Amino acid sequence: MASSHTLLVLYGSQTGTAQDTAERIGRQAQRRHVRVRVVALDSYTVANLISEALVVFVCATTGQGDPPDNMKNFWRFLFRKSLPVGSLCRLDFAVLGLGDSSYPKFNFVAKKLHKRLLQLGATALLPVGLADDQHDFGPDGVIDPWLTAFWEKALALFPPPAGLQPLSDTELLPPRYVFHFMDDVTEKPADWSQDNEHERESRLEHSFVAHMVSNQRVTHPDHFQDVRLIEFDITGSNIDFSAGDVVMIRPKNAPDDVEQLCNLLRLDPERQFNLRPTDGAAAPVPARLPRPCTIRQLVESFLDIASVPRRSFFELLMSFATNELEAEKLAEFSSAQGQEELYSYCNRPRRTALEVLADFPHTTAAISVDYLLDLFPEIQPRSFSIASSLLAHPNRIQILLAVVRYKTRLQKPRKGLCSTWLASLDPTQGQVSVPLWVKKGGLRFPSGTDTPVIMVGPGTGVAPFRAAIQERTAQHRNGNVLFFGCRSESGDFYFCSEWEERQRAGQLTLFTAFSRDQEEKVYVQHRVSEQAGLLWELISKRNAHFYIAGNAKQMPTAVCDALKRAFQSEGGISEDQAAEMLMTMEKAGRFQSETWC
Ligand code: 2AM
Repeated sequence: MASSHTLLVLYGSQTGTAQDTAERIGRQAQRRHVRVRVVALDSYTVANLISEALVVFVCATTGQGDPPDNMKNFWRFLFRKSLPVGSLCRLDFAVLGLGDSSYPKFNFVAKKLHKRLLQLGATALLPVGLADDQHDFGPDGVIDPWLTAFWEKALALFPPPAGLQPLSDTELLPPRYVFHFMDDVTEKPADWSQDNEHERESRLEHSFVAHMVSNQRVTHPDHFQDVRLIEFDITGSNIDFSAGDVVMIRPKNAPDDVEQLCNLLRLDPERQFNLRPTDGAAAPVPARLPRPCTIRQLVESFLDIASVPRRSFFELLMSFATNELEAEKLAEFSSAQGQEELYSYCNRPRRTALEVLADFPHTTAAISVDYLLDLFPEIQPRSFSIASSLLAHPNRIQILLAVVRYKTRLQKPRKGLCSTWLASLDPTQGQVSVPLWVKKGGLRFPSGTDTPVIMVGPGTGVAPFRAAIQERTAQHRNGNVLFFGCRSESGDFYFCSEWEERQRAGQLTLFTAFSRDQEEKVYVQHRVSEQAGLLWELISKRNAHFYIAGNAKQMPTAVCDALKRAFQSEGGISEDQAAEMLMTMEKAGRFQSETWC
């Protein structure tokens, strides 16, 4: 329900950072005795905005300037042409954007939202905040001063009750939930209902419990990188997808990590509990948790203990510190001045939340179980480009997974949570269930039968193109050109025999770049340059589409440069005209790229 005496914080978050920031604003409000609700944008009834007094929007920008998934409905609603100008004239608002200035559409969502709210007649309390991952002190370098300015204005609208001082940063706020243990005979509310697997699944709108069919290494055993082709059976799911779409999978924590956390917190993993929210509708019990839930289930599937913790983690941890040395260090990490120190302790070496807790054993032992969901964010789902087509593999989803492992200055190698978990699952040893769902991806392939596609996908970047090649050949669409790059023909040239077969059948033209099979590095962009004539012919005469996917940082720019040079040499046009041509292609959806790091 909307209330004019409540500050509303609405967030659109993809990876959890915007949610974390929104929750931080919520805690700051509580410390200032301001009533507050913190809600994900799509869980909020947008029509109620007309009766809100003050709303802070915290919004991330994702991909190519897109809003996060959990604000997509809100976004559609807000930009309806039928919304009358002036309909939000009673609303005061502030927009804080989270973005990364190394992407072209930096904080696009926040800027556009700010503009639209003004257009609808709302009043901006202060200019839009544009937090930047590239800022020297991380996004907090912008967020902290923005919040100071925000509270100055907001407290004029929500003056604290006379005589009440703000709470200090170290004072512990109530947890969002309290744990009621099933074996605690002193208190057992009558309304506890035990639900079953089916009821729980039905609360989760979109996920389907697929079975893993195979999990096969596709790189040579001696090759430095473990890459897997993983297949899921989705029979009975009604899941439909096309080439370019992605599958979402939420990983679990490793059993050793679960044990270690339980040991550090002195928790029995088998103990069962139910959660009760402490502030009603603002934080309903997460639907994903079984009722009752064991500590092991909570830690394994819900609490993100393997990520690098955020500053809010240290702020809360500090409230439990009993040991002087630990308290001092935690106070430093929580302060604005200590952010550089925190960065080199945590972010640079990619230290996990669990490792931090092990570094602060006294404090950790004092953490009250009720605060677990305040301390750790929820494990976020990861997206993987689908590497197969339903037309070639009915009832199946295949992904190409690079198992993430790297060294930092810490002794233990860093491991990617989702890739390590998926790689560890072995369907030959019994049934392996993996909940998943499918989302529209960024790449779209042409519907015309005669439109050729040119795809540049080194490494696991080839995944969406394998799906496209399978889909297009099943639909008798020819004109598939693939540039594939890897380190060596013997080490990581996956799908080699599949491509050979398709080449023989006239379905595929393949160019390979094996970067380390000779003295000089050979990359996909070199092959693109060599094929300038063919590319010009396909693009200028046959309207071909051009795609890039992959995770090498410099690769997309290098490929674009090679393509523009091809336009210049083959088309006899200037550098500016070549750039213009590529831009026109991009606007028309004929040039698309999907990159990740
Ligand atoms: P390298 O590791 O030998 O440098 C898939 O990862 C392939 O992409 C590898 O052959 C890798 O080569 C190559 N690669 C690395 N950096 C690249 C870049 N800037 N442009 C194109 N390919 C690159």
